[in-house]
Amino acid sequence: MSGKNSEEIIKEWWDSASEYYQKEISADKMTTVQYGPFGSNEEKLKLLGKIKNKHVLELGCGGGQVSIALAKKGAVCTGIDISNKQVGFARENAEKEGVKVEFLELPFSRIKELKPRKFDVVLSVMALQYCSDLWALLKNVRDLLVKGGIFIFSIEHPFYLLIDPKDMKIKESYFDSGLKIKKERWPDKSIHYFAYYDRKVSDIVNLILDSGLKLERVIEPFDKQDKIWGTGYRRALVNKIAPTIIFKCRK
Ligand SMILES: C[S@@+](CC[C@H](N)C(=O)[O-])C[C@H]1O[C@@H](n2cnc3c(N)ncnc32)[C@H](O)[C@@H]1O
Repeated sequence: MSGKNSEEIIKEWWDSASEYYQKEISADKMTTVQYGPFGSNEEKLKLLGKIKNKHVLELGCGGGQVSIALAKKGAVCTGIDISNKQVGFARENAEKEGVKVEFLELPFSRIKELKPRKFDVVLSVMALQYCSDLWALLKNVRDLLVKGGIFIFSIEHPFYLLIDPKDMKIKESYFDSGLKIKKERWPDKSIHYFAYYDRKVSDIVNLILDSGLKLERVIEPFDKQDKIWGTGYRRALVNKIAPTIIFKCRK
C-alpha cells in the first residue's frame, strides 16, 4: 500500500473485488435504478422524470447495471469507472442485455475530459464515498450538465457507518471525517486495503450549495423489501438507520 495515493488503493481494491461483487449482484438491478442498500428504486422514488432520449452520465458505474436499466428505457448512457475489471463486466452485461451503452475506464478526477459533451442527467449510485475531491467533482458535474439538468447521487449514510452492526454501539466519531483505510484479510488469506471517504451530512450539503448547484431534495429511503443489496446488512441496524442517503441537485 505504501507510496500509493487513495485513488490507486481504491482502484486496486475494486479490481480485486470485482468478480465476487458482480456475482453477488442480482440481475434485477438491470431493470430499474436501485439507489443503494435498502435504498429503494426509481419506480418508487421517481427522481429522474422522463428519461427517454435523455443523455445520461453515470459516475462509478461498476458492472453497468444502472446505465443498462436506463438504456432499456431509451436513455443514451455513458458510464465511467476507475476499475478496468468493473468496466469489463459492464461491457459484457450490456452485450448480454442487448443494449448500447458507452463504458469508459475513467476516474472521477478526470471527468472534465468529457467536455465539451453535455448531459441532461448525471447519476451516481453508491460510488462518491470513494471520491477524494468532492468539491472538484461537483464543479465538473455542473459544467457537464445542461441548464436545468439534474445530478442525483446516493452514498452510504454517514450515520449508518458509525455503528458497529455486531453490538450496535457507536464505533467511530461522526466528527472524524476524511479518508478511512481498513486492512482486510480475505478467505484466501490475501491482504487488501479498503479505502473510502467519510463526510458529515453538513459538509456534503454545503459543498453542493457552494458549487452553484441547487439542492432540491435529500432522501433517506428505507425499502424493507430490498433483496438485492440485502446480504451483509444486519436487519436490526438497518431497521434503525437508513444505510443509504440520496441527494438530488439541479443546475
Ligand atoms: C459500490 S460500487 C457501485 C457500482 C454501481 N454504481 C452499482 O450501483 O452497482 C462503487 C464503484 O465506484 C467505482 N469507483 C471508485 N472510485 C472511483 C473513482 N475515483 N473514479 C471512478 N470510479 C470509482 C468502483 O470501481 C466501483 O465500481
